[in-house]
This record gives sequence, C-alpha cells and structure tokens, in this order.
Amino acid sequence: MSETGRKACTHLFFLPDVLQSSRKEGTMVHLAGAVKKEVEIRVIAAGRIATGAFAQRVLTEGKADLIGLARVLWADPEWPAKVREGRENEIIHCCLDCDETCTKLVTKGKVAFCVRWPHEKRMDWKDKMV
Ligand SMILES: Cc1cc2nc3c(=O)[nH]c(=O)nc-3n(C[C@H](O)[C@H](O)[C@H](O)COP(=O)(O)O)c2cc1C
Ligand code: SF4
Repeated sequence: MSETGRKACTHLFFLPDVLQSSRKEGTMVHLAGAVKKEVEIRVIAAGRIATGAFAQRVLTEGKADLIGLARVLWADPEWPAKVREGRENEIIHCCLDCDETCTKLVTKGKVAFCVRWPHEKRMDWKDKMV
C-alpha cells in the first residue's frame, strides 16, 4: 500500500461510522451494485463477505462480477478451498469483536498479523517479515 493510500485508509476507515458499518455483512455490496449499473467493465464487491452463500448471492443477484476478500483471507487463507469443498464449518472466521488489529497495522505500514492465528504462525510470520 502506498503512503498516500495508507493515510487515506487511516483517516477514512477508522471514522466511527465507517468502522461500525464495516462490521455489517456485505457492507459495500450496494455500492458495487450501483457502480455495476453504470459501467461495462467488471466490478468487484468487497467488505465483510464472509460466507460462501453470501458471496454466491452477490454474484447471482448481479451486484458484482467478482468477490474481493481481505480480512476473511487474513483470518483463514484456506477460505476459498473450504467453501469450494463444502467445509465451511472448518473456516476460522474474522472476529467481529476484534479491534481491527490487521487493518490498523497495515495502515501504519507495519507487519500485520491476525489475532485468530495460532501463536506459532504469528511467530513464523514475524520472523519472515524481519
Ligand atoms: C491485510 C489487509 C490488507 C489490506 N490492504 C489494502 C490495500 O492495499 N488497499 C485497500 O484499498 N484496502 C486494503 N485493505 C482493506 C480492505 O480493502 C477492506 O478490509 C475491505 O473492506 C475488504 O473487506 P473485508 O476485509 O471485509 O474482506 C486491506 C485489509 C487487510 C485486512
Ligand atoms: S486481525 Fe482481527 S480484524 Fe483482522 S482478520 Fe484477524 S480477526 Fe479480523
């Protein structure tokens, strides 16, 4: 992420209203849907798309052409495989009570980790990023 992008994210993402709405499922899908009506290029929907069923509905209802995942993949990089293979009960979900640890670190340009990761994975990640 560029320095300008980081600053913009820090200012905008952590506004109380934005932070609150970012916890709602599919928080920006309606925006993707509105953009899609106006353009002829592919549109990606992102923002708390946390289940395969919800992702499928966004695509089926024509609100977007692609699904973007950030925190979902950060908490569980195997999310796509688990959804595809019908193992959704094994997904490690991003925690709604989390204080956006990963996003705060990313916007500060620091090494990010997920609070849902096991200790060993956090240590491994830290070693690789030093
Ligand atoms: C590890 C991580 C890296 C991110 N990097 C970027 C980025 O480079 N640019 C950006 O616009 N947003 C970035 N974001 C913010 C996502 O765009 C934001 O979380 C978005 O709402 C996606 O929704 P989701 O996290 O619920 O999947 C990042 C988020 C995380 C967790
Ligand atoms: S650090 Fe927190 S907000 Fe980020 S993916 Fe993990 S649980 Fe979700």
